[in-house]
Amino acid sequence: MPATSVQVVAARFPDVFDHSHYAAGLWRKLSRSAHLGPKYFFSDVPRYLRHRRALGLRRWDVGVWHNPLREFFPRIYSRFPSPPYLIEALESCRVAGIRFTIPPIRLDGLVRAWWATREVPGVVLECGTYRGASALLLAVLARLCGLKKVTVLLDTFTGIPDTCLYDPSRTVGEFRPPADQVETIRSQAALLGVADRVEILPGRFDETLPQLLARNPTQLSFVHIDANTFSGTWDACRCAIPAISPGGIVCFDDYNGMCDLGARLAIDQYLGTTPRPRPLAGTSAFVHLLQEASR
Ligand SMILES: C[S@@+](CC[C@H](N)C(=O)[O-])C[C@H]1O[C@@H](n2cnc3c(N)ncnc32)[C@H](O)[C@@H]1O
Repeated sequence: MPATSVQVVAARFPDVFDHSHYAAGLWRKLSRSAHLGPKYFFSDVPRYLRHRRALGLRRWDVGVWHNPLREFFPRIYSRFPSPPYLIEALESCRVAGIRFTIPPIRLDGLVRAWWATREVPGVVLECGTYRGASALLLAVLARLCGLKKVTVLLDTFTGIPDTCLYDPSRTVGEFRPPADQVETIRSQAALLGVADRVEILPGRFDETLPQLLARNPTQLSFVHIDANTFSGTWDACRCAIPAISPGGIVCFDDYNGMCDLGARLAIDQYLGTTPRPRPLAGTSAFVHLLQEASR
């Protein structure tokens, strides 16, 4: 089965992507920049740099000044190859009524990084799953590729539970899905033939992650952290990253985003000076734990 990329395949399935959560197309990007740009450069970034100093982090952070360009000219930065069976997986998702709320480019980076960990032992984990779309795609790909992988989905399923002074662009309750979202994800998993490969743990990460990791032995091969806030990202990092197997990858959806400086602070505070997250696709970044550890 020849590999292709999500971006190429996405053009065949336009109705599978819900573009309402981000600026798609040049006109929407321009109007979003005009709307967010002045606040970002004149208020959010200076405040973020002050917060870095208060947290004892290196104050200078060049990335935040040019990250808006990543939103404007999104591309894949990593060289991970794509998994096979993307067309089949996206077609199955379309039939099951799934709609992706992350842009095709970030989904592309995500599946490539996930595929790079296919031989790493452990569970696939998504911290911040919202409607479960990207995690279900990974579960379907695992089934089609013959991988014995369980995918665990974590979320409050009532939206962002809290924000703090580091999250000026986020609000409590944001990303609240319909009340029956967990049942919807379970039905979609059954339609996709992955009901036995998907586990859903509703609740805050600081409650659900210790429960998950208390099971013996729980190892993680791939972790997708997409919480958008300081405390959610911090809890996901401190609980999940130490449980990642050698060779595993943690992918940070928000690291280079304009609206998620709190998540960036949490990641930098957790990681310290090394390893540094490397750009993955669009505004996402990743750390490949074996490579970083062997440096
Ligand atoms: C941007 S959404 C995730 C989008 C999803 N990964 C996707 O691809 O469609 C962020 C999610 O993180 C969840 N979240 C944030 N902080 C959390 C916490 N401390 N515990 C559990 N869930 C949290 C929110 O409920 C929200 O659904």
